Amino acid sequence: MSLFADPRPLFQKALAERYAMGAFNISNMEMIQAIVEGAESLGSPVFLQVSFGAKKYAGLDYLVALAEVAQKNTSVPVVLHLDHGANFDVCKQCIDAGFSSVMIDGSALSYPENVALTQEVVAYAHKYNVAVEAELGQLKGVEDDVSSEESYFTDPHQALDFVQKTGCDSLAISIGTSHGAYKFSGESSLDFTRLKEIKDLIDYWNKVPFPLVLHGSSSVPKEWVSLAEKYGAQLGNARGVSEDLLSKASKLGIAKINIDTDLRLAFTGTLRQFLRENPPIFDPRKYLGESKKNMKIMVEHKIKLFGSQNKG
Ligand code: G3H
Ligand code: 13P
Ligand code: ZN
Repeated sequence: MSLFADPRPLFQKALAERYAMGAFNISNMEMIQAIVEGAESLGSPVFLQVSFGAKKYAGLDYLVALAEVAQKNTSVPVVLHLDHGANFDVCKQCIDAGFSSVMIDGSALSYPENVALTQEVVAYAHKYNVAVEAELGQLKGVEDDVSSEESYFTDPHQALDFVQKTGCDSLAISIGTSHGAYKFSGESSLDFTRLKEIKDLIDYWNKVPFPLVLHGSSSVPKEWVSLAEKYGAQLGNARGVSEDLLSKASKLGIAKINIDTDLRLAFTGTLRQFLRENPPIFDPRKYLGESKKNMKIMVEHKIKLFGSQNKG
């Protein structure tokens, strides 16, 4: 039995009350503290998610141990989630290590292969009461083992068939977002008509609302890009998803919203500024402490935007 929160009842509450939960990527202690302290301060449930890259960087044991301490020290529900699991083995490893949720990302495979792989993960995960997020449709961007140059939007009828065949607990869909800091060349836009079609079809069959997930949802706020650039970063034409679109999505059936890039921007922009303005300081606790403070502010901002404050 996982020590972490089961996301399924949290999804049902979020869908019934029309808000989304933030899922934030973690790589080290400061990030975990910033996220969980931010969630605690607003009384919000929260997902800590581990990518393959984070697992390689920090080691699974370290991240699980840190996350365990964080969840013991908070009263809000904390889900420990694998982000973009590329194969059965990494999902199994995370389930065995105590995660309460895993994502199997077969979106780059053929449809029958994605179905078969997701079925295999669901069968194992459900034996241990662990929830499974799957993905259908493809987002542009690179995430270590799962990468794609092209994007294609999720087909609503295929999404229904996929959920029926696999028994996954939530589904990441492609409606216009992409990973990283360069999402749009002009104004951001999302395909809300497609979102509604997917939701209506699956909910009608499922009888109860089915949770959909939005990846690649950083807004790449101008003020953070400017701060980082003022202190030496080179971010070119970085552009994210507008906050209005995310707020709308969180009321229309998106129950989990993934954020990584904006946390990195807050952390790194602060770090650059602090080091430039404080040349004599070389104590990591000082500069990491500053970065953590601003990452927590970023997390709180997202929680308010997605509407999950006081829902924990
Ligand atoms: O999509 C997920 C995250 O941005 C993961 O990034 O693979 O570099 O850790 P990463
Ligand atoms: P961003 O790169 O937009 O923050 O998306 C993160 C994500 O989707 C992690 O799975
Ligand atoms: Zn993602």
